[in-house]
Amino acid sequence: MVPMSVTDPVVHKTWSGRFNAPVAESVKSFTASVTFDQRLAPFDIQGSLAHAQMLTEAGILSEADFTAIQQGLTTILEDIRSDRFCWNLDDEDVHLNIEKRLTQLVGDAGKRLHTGRSRNDQVATDIRLYLRAAIDGLLGQLKMLQSALISLAEMHADTLMPGFTHLQVAQPVSFGHHMMAYVEMLARDRGRLSDCRRRLNQLPLGAAALAGTSFPIRRERVAELLGFDGICGNSLDAVSDRDFAIEFCAAASLIMIHLSRFSEELILWMSPRFNFVRIGDAFCTGSSIMPQKRNPDVPELVRGKSGRVVGHLMGLLLLMKGQPLAYNKDNQEDKEPLFDTLDTLSQTLTVYAEMMGDIQVNAPAMRQAALEGFATATDLADYLVKKGMPFRDAHEIVARAVRHAELQQCDLADLSLETLQSFSTMITADVYEILTLEGSLASRDIPGGTAPSQVRAAVARARLELERGP
Ligand code: ARG
Repeated sequence: MVPMSVTDPVVHKTWSGRFNAPVAESVKSFTASVTFDQRLAPFDIQGSLAHAQMLTEAGILSEADFTAIQQGLTTILEDIRSDRFCWNLDDEDVHLNIEKRLTQLVGDAGKRLHTGRSRNDQVATDIRLYLRAAIDGLLGQLKMLQSALISLAEMHADTLMPGFTHLQVAQPVSFGHHMMAYVEMLARDRGRLSDCRRRLNQLPLGAAALAGTSFPIRRERVAELLGFDGICGNSLDAVSDRDFAIEFCAAASLIMIHLSRFSEELILWMSPRFNFVRIGDAFCTGSSIMPQKRNPDVPELVRGKSGRVVGHLMGLLLLMKGQPLAYNKDNQEDKEPLFDTLDTLSQTLTVYAEMMGDIQVNAPAMRQAALEGFATATDLADYLVKKGMPFRDAHEIVARAVRHAELQQCDLADLSLETLQSFSTMITADVYEILTLEGSLASRDIPGGTAPSQVRAAVARARLELERGP
């Protein structure tokens, strides 16, 4: 048998030395990832440069080869950035496309770059580098949204609105307090992304295909060059682990769920029945048939897109479910859900921060709504308790007073002292101080409560956290 020469027409793939027939066209496009993984290119090059530098320092690669590789990769990066790079489906993925071009540019030095590594540890490194940078961007975006909400909260610390349970008017709250609830959620979201970043910041390179390499490479040095906190401790795990992608999508899902809940509220509040807020014209659309409409498209789309991101999380979990160690081609399927999660989240955060900076609050409508639901009934019960009545008895008495007011179609504060005293003789003229919405709000003056003074304190705390936190 004649050994196949490198000029044999069958040999067109980097790994095709042992194949007798070219890959079918259908398989080529089915297995290629270059159409979507090319966005990893800058990180692939960054990883290659660090790997090549370490190989040179360890005496595995010559200085001349390293210089050639550096020059070649720099040219390639410039070509990619200016859209001049010619991506080729035949070369399967971002890694082989770059390596092939490097070899065209610098010859044998390009072929030596892959010494002591595999695409398996290479791609795992690329994604971690990519995601690390993405998380840093998202943390900034989350802060911008928080900061818009904090300003809104500060402006509306004294603005009354009905607080709801079961979507029924429950007790008066400050609109600023309501905004600060989302600031808290987003702070936890930043915490989760930072945790994810911390765990992913370990270097897979050096794991090679799955078992490590026989070359005396220095993994710690590559980790240092790439800004990783350390190296992955097990080569099998290093090439097959995608926990970081799942963790990221879980954190992203939770952010989207928070924004979906917020959107649901905005949609309700914008409906003419509530009429609590108005978001800027720039964030609404009209109807092609009903001229009176101002549709809350942005919040509705955010609510819709949350499903898509949660779907990606499910996709990634199931991607990993049946995979034995170590690397399997299944893993190539991690990229599209991950990239789409990132794009969706990033777009959502941008538009949300802008939208929340352009929102008008209809304070009179919110105050009116709070008046309609006997929102100070709990305050009356607490008043009686403070005068010595057991809480359960007070609850019962106030329920009767509410029923009476309901029949009279008026608020508790509209009942005469005489009428109120018919429910309990413990009630005296000072009751009217707590039956007002403002009195009720001001009385909830404990940390985490809705009293305007507490909202202002929460605003100050949140600003400090934004300055100091990641
Ligand atoms: N494009 C591949 C991926 O995304 C790179 C690793 C390929 N490794 C392999 N042995 N086929 O996972």
